[in-house]
Amino acid sequence: MYIVSNLVKVTIPNYLASLPIPDSVGGWFRLGVRDWLALIPPTVVVGGISYYSYQTIKKAREAGDGTINPAVRKDINKVVDFIDIEDITEKVSLCRCWRSKNWPYCDGAHGAHNKATGDNIGPIVVRHKEKK
Ligand code: FES
Repeated sequence: MYIVSNLVKVTIPNYLASLPIPDSVGGWFRLGVRDWLALIPPTVVVGGISYYSYQTIKKAREAGDGTINPAVRKDINKVVDFIDIEDITEKVSLCRCWRSKNWPYCDGAHGAHNKATGDNIGPIVVRHKEKK
């Protein structure tokens, strides 16, 4: 525990105090090459932490609240669809991403979802073997 305590209370504050951060805006223009080089490591660390935090928050927002269906027939308890196989002329693409505005059929909305989330969802294509 001493190591962590010393790191937080002594080492990091001393390191930050030693950084050549000017007291005024004009001071930034008077920094030398060594000063700028000294500022690179903490800038990289802060930038990395910021970027990682942004990505984490972005993914959490895109993941939503854990529900799969964001908008399809939210007024009923369970969405169930029936399609008679005889009604399929050749083939039909059925949505699996729950983002289609033409539910239960795929309208390509999975593309935007995949792009935004890095997912790889696509429709299920049901083909009529005899009418193929
Ligand atoms: S729109 Fe949902 S799978 Fe294509």
